[in-house]
Amino acid sequence: MSGGDVIIALDFPSAEAVYAFLDKFENEARKPYVKVGMELFYAEGPQIVREIKARGHKIFLDLKLHDIPNTVKKAMASLSRLDVDMTNLHAAGTIDMMRAAVEGLTRPDGTRPMLLAVTQLTSTSEERMQRELLINASMPDTVKKYAQNAKEAGLDGVVCSPLEAGLVKEACGAAFQTVTPGIRFADSAADDQARVMTPEKARLGGSDYIVVGRPITQAADPVAAYRRCVKEFLGE
Ligand code: C5P
Repeated sequence: MSGGDVIIALDFPSAEAVYAFLDKFENEARKPYVKVGMELFYAEGPQIVREIKARGHKIFLDLKLHDIPNTVKKAMASLSRLDVDMTNLHAAGTIDMMRAAVEGLTRPDGTRPMLLAVTQLTSTSEERMQRELLINASMPDTVKKYAQNAKEAGLDGVVCSPLEAGLVKEACGAAFQTVTPGIRFADSAADDQARVMTPEKARLGGSDYIVVGRPITQAADPVAAYRRCVKEFLGE
């Protein structure tokens, strides 16, 4: 498995806005790893992924699939042909669904993009999970169980809060990857993120990859903010 990276969340509404942003990194030796989410993918379609790949960036396609195993398998096969580097699904779809996803994602030559599971969304509180979803376990126990299911199904890791990364590593081992959003510099605004961590603390806490949006995309100098993030997280 690769050694971790800083992933910039491209939370922009259109292809034009994305290209204007990526143009700023044209002369950078290190091409940022980027995340394409539902907003952009549903607005611009697969072509946006091909364009960004052609510019030399690695892509985490964050579409959080959740459906019956056969449908997810076929959807994952389409995503593997798109040549993304990382994608994800909801662990709530069960081990069968996750196994089908791994099968669908695997290319004829045996390689495949990294596949991660979303455990419980960080927007779901323990109280709501118990009252509305009738899951009568604690949030840490649920996250742990979903991560173990993902490992059993052959996935590479989970997307989780940097505060849960240690718990996941303890339950699933050091090689099981953690990808964590909710990252802020010590001196930047939290925005709508309730629980945040600095890049350095995230690394020390067990995050392999961090997903960073506004602290870079909304910075006065995004390239400088990206460099700072890489320095704090990877020590480069
Ligand atoms: O701007 P910010 O750094 O908060 O962006 C974080 C990115 O990570 C956004 O794309 C957001 O949708 C995503 N994300 C998150 N929390 C999760 C899962 C995904 O913030 N639990």
